[in-house]
Amino acid sequence: MRVIVSGSYQDLSKKAAEIMAEQINKKPESVLGLATGSTPIGMYKELIAMNKDGKVDFSKVTTFNLDEYVGLTPDHDQSYDYFMWDNLFSHVNIMKEQTNIPSGIAADLPTECASYEKLVAKKGGIDIQILGVGHNGHIGFNEPSDSFTISTHVIELASQTIEANARFFEEKSQVPKKAVTMGIGAIMKARHVLLIVNDKSKAEAVRQLFSGKVDPQVPVSILQLHPNLTILVDRETADLLPLNEDSREVVLQG
Ligand code: F6R
Repeated sequence: MRVIVSGSYQDLSKKAAEIMAEQINKKPESVLGLATGSTPIGMYKELIAMNKDGKVDFSKVTTFNLDEYVGLTPDHDQSYDYFMWDNLFSHVNIMKEQTNIPSGIAADLPTECASYEKLVAKKGGIDIQILGVGHNGHIGFNEPSDSFTISTHVIELASQTIEANARFFEEKSQVPKKAVTMGIGAIMKARHVLLIVNDKSKAEAVRQLFSGKVDPQVPVSILQLHPNLTILVDRETADLLPLNEDSREVVLQG
């Protein structure tokens, strides 16, 4: 586990973009696991700037997004499909046919989930997976539960998640109740996981990652078993985490 503490959201986003670009430059045909939500927006902005400056080339990458709301069409401005085009894909030289986002409107969602899972495997799995984390510890939309779900699946969103995501909709009642999410299997199989945390109110959930106890009620806790995990965290949140153990590399910036 490598922890990088940044003084500002901009530094955090820059560092995340540099790590992504390094991966793509090392392997132009990288498979990227992408997230939506507020946290990675700054990183996507940095990547767009780097792409314009010729510092990173998306022409050969394949992307898989973590999740999508059930019932929202790609042209709905709160769908994660729309988010990705708005915040990244439209602004870089990526090939549309190499971007993948689970469909939340497929007539047969279990078949859609199985196909998505197979496609990730067919592409050789994920080289680098970007993750944000929910206040309740969810990663992707793997919500707190008595057990982990390994494969891509349909999930009932937790009331805390609906509450948190209501800020993006006109009314809370408009937030979809279900989503399709990649499971814990594909995330844990990613060759590098990059978790970005920029909100001290998530510190309690993130602390579980340092507890030595994997608990499906706090899904992010499973990441402590990942052999190549980088956590990018803002200083205020970092102050609430037990980061002073010798085994962890802590790089202070900003
Ligand atoms: C989004 C996703 C979610 C978010 C999480 C944090 O694709 O999978 O797990 O990363 O809900 O969201 P923000 O960044 O908006 O706080």
